[in-house]
Amino acid sequence: MRIETYRRAPFVDREEEVEFFVSWFQEVPQRILWVYGPKSSGKTTVVAYVIDNYLLKNKKFWIKYFNLRETLISSYESFIDTFFVEVEKSESEAVGKVGINVFGFSGEIYQKIKKKQINLFKTFIEELERLVKKKKRCVIVIDEIQKLRDIYIKNGNGERELLKEFLNFCVSLTKERHLSHVVILTSNTIFIERIYNDARLKETSDFVKIDHLKKEQVKEWLKIEGLSKKEIDLVWEYLGGSIPRILKVLSQVKNGKNLKEFLEQEAWFAYTEIDEFLAEFKDEEVEYFKSVAEEIVEKGYYSLEGLKKDKREFLAMWAEREILFYDPLELKIFPNSKIYVKGLEIFLKKYKEV
Ligand SMILES: Nc1ncnc2c1ncn2[C@@H]1O[C@H](COP(=O)(O)OP(=O)(O)OP(=O)(O)O)[C@@H](O)[C@H]1O
Ligand SMILES: [Mg+2]
Repeated sequence: MRIETYRRAPFVDREEEVEFFVSWFQEVPQRILWVYGPKSSGKTTVVAYVIDNYLLKNKKFWIKYFNLRETLISSYESFIDTFFVEVEKSESEAVGKVGINVFGFSGEIYQKIKKKQINLFKTFIEELERLVKKKKRCVIVIDEIQKLRDIYIKNGNGERELLKEFLNFCVSLTKERHLSHVVILTSNTIFIERIYNDARLKETSDFVKIDHLKKEQVKEWLKIEGLSKKEIDLVWEYLGGSIPRILKVLSQVKNGKNLKEFLEQEAWFAYTEIDEFLAEFKDEEVEYFKSVAEEIVEKGYYSLEGLKKDKREFLAMWAEREILFYDPLELKIFPNSKIYVKGLEIFLKKYKEV
């Protein structure tokens, strides 16, 4: 395992994932790629790493990367203002003049789009067709897509959902026209479930899960960091493969903090989050949560198979709260990171005491 520096911080090797994306981008675009996974598992980082280290180094690639987390989008107008700019010539001629985070339309076209006189997505496709004719390989990446959820396009024909229009556009770019790769990331798996259960989108999509690090990877990394076997086992037991949590523990240990004390404190914080959220539910829901907690502590996950809608909705709230992780493909609920198993253990112990 290599630990390199990426964006001024240590980057833990994600060889398998990097290889997957690199070979994905070599192929002809056929389907939308959805990247999902537990909170802070490293989805954004690994995709950004591949763009910076592989795609941007190859002049053939034409890349647009939109991170919606960094932007406040409240309407179709602000969506246009954020991602599209006016350039003197068409985008294909202005490559390099506009950044990776914006798309340029020539003045007249831009004004027409703004006034909704022409369809944004149709015009976008025409620009991409020009690029592909020039032998460019196009890649569009959208991070935190769920932020487009409540935005509507209002025009003479009534109201349309921006997200729906956008996803249709993505299907057209990949499955139908093979013009551009479209990679969509989201940390919201309830949103992924909606997509996964939409027959048309499911058929035109692939899903890839970026999970926390595996045990072997954590062991190897912590060995490089100079931790003893006992310390490594302890870190794995509490934190699993959560990269940001491991980075935090490493900096604490380097500053002389007692490892076991720190981990127990983290477990306590996880418990307080659970306790606080539980206060919002009725006794019978708390009782049900207890059975979920027992199964997660015992097996590492809770199965969603055959579960009734009300229970799924209840668990979805825990996923929205980012305490649990809802995987609609595996039909399982996992803790969002291993520290929540420790939090659940504390909850069960206290529940039995009452
Ligand atoms: N391979 C890695 N090596 C070192 N640090 C990493 C690595 N991957 C992620 N990180 C760090 O972990 C944190 C979370 O990563 P990142 O934001 O990429 O996760 P994410 O899955 O996109 O999160 P979210 O669910 O919030 O979208 C960041 O601070 C990032 O710098
Ligand atoms: Mg992210």
